[in-house]
Amino acid sequence: MKFANQVAIVTGAGRNIGEEIAKKLALEGAAVAVFDLDKARGEKVAADIVASGGRAQGFVCDVSGEDDIARCVAETVAAFGRIDMLVNNAAISDNKTMFDITTAEWNKVLAVTLTAPFLLTKYVAKHMIDKKIAGRIVNVSSTSGYYGRDRATAYTAAKGGIVNLTRSQAIQVAAHKIRVNAVVPNKIGSPVGKEEFDPTRPVVNLVGRPGVPEDLANAALFLLSEESSFIVGAALFVDGGCSTIMPGNS
Ligand SMILES: NC(=O)c1ccc[n+]([C@@H]2O[C@H](COP(=O)([O-])OP(=O)(O)OC[C@H]3O[C@@H](n4cnc5c(N)ncnc54)[C@H](O)[C@@H]3O)[C@@H](O)[C@H]2O)c1
Repeated sequence: MKFANQVAIVTGAGRNIGEEIAKKLALEGAAVAVFDLDKARGEKVAADIVASGGRAQGFVCDVSGEDDIARCVAETVAAFGRIDMLVNNAAISDNKTMFDITTAEWNKVLAVTLTAPFLLTKYVAKHMIDKKIAGRIVNVSSTSGYYGRDRATAYTAAKGGIVNLTRSQAIQVAAHKIRVNAVVPNKIGSPVGKEEFDPTRPVVNLVGRPGVPEDLANAALFLLSEESSFIVGAALFVDGGCSTIMPGNS
């Protein structure tokens, strides 16, 4: 097992991508702190992991608040003794133009999608440095961080920010043997903020199928594992190759 005796925090782990990352980490031996705003969802994922013989606990954490982040990181250490891995997965989207989005909505999307990975990484990396843990951190970006969109404004800005935040964080903790990387998904399972998979959602990629949460979880686990020990500050695209297609390609 790749992560025996290790502890991971996965934010937004109550469903879809975060749920799959949490469950795969547990299968590889990690104890998983399932952070989610939604108590029932987080507790269900933790209970599923425990039922299949793993170690997990749900933590009701609103990652848009620094107090909640500080509390839940401390509670994770109290529950499991240490933190080796962090996956900054929670995000919300706005699906609005810059003319429609209010300042409050903009601030909320930025708080959950960009400020939370900044704060969580700060709190968790401090713990790793204090305990001399060679930790690994994965930030979840999006192809929306590389391209403009007509109906997403704060989300595209936040996801673009994640890519360069990852580089700065990677530089600032590398001397402590902590690695920070990003994954860059496109159309994986259900859309952000929605429960249901929509089979009619158009798929334009080189693989010819929509992504499934396992595709992203495999990439995240690679970046969390020793197999990626020479990869730092990178952004790994998990998008079926859609970002490589030039508009108007023929
Ligand atoms: N699904 C996709 O097609 C896709 C594509 C590109 C990028 N992504 C990225 O992948 C990640 C996961 O996406 P998803 O589709 O699984 O999302 P999702 O909306 O299905 O799940 C997000 C989870 O985060 C939780 N959450 C929301 N706000 C929170 C908060 N303030 N504090 C704590 N938890 C909160 C929700 O309760 C939910 O369980 C996100 O970073 C997203 O931007 C997803």
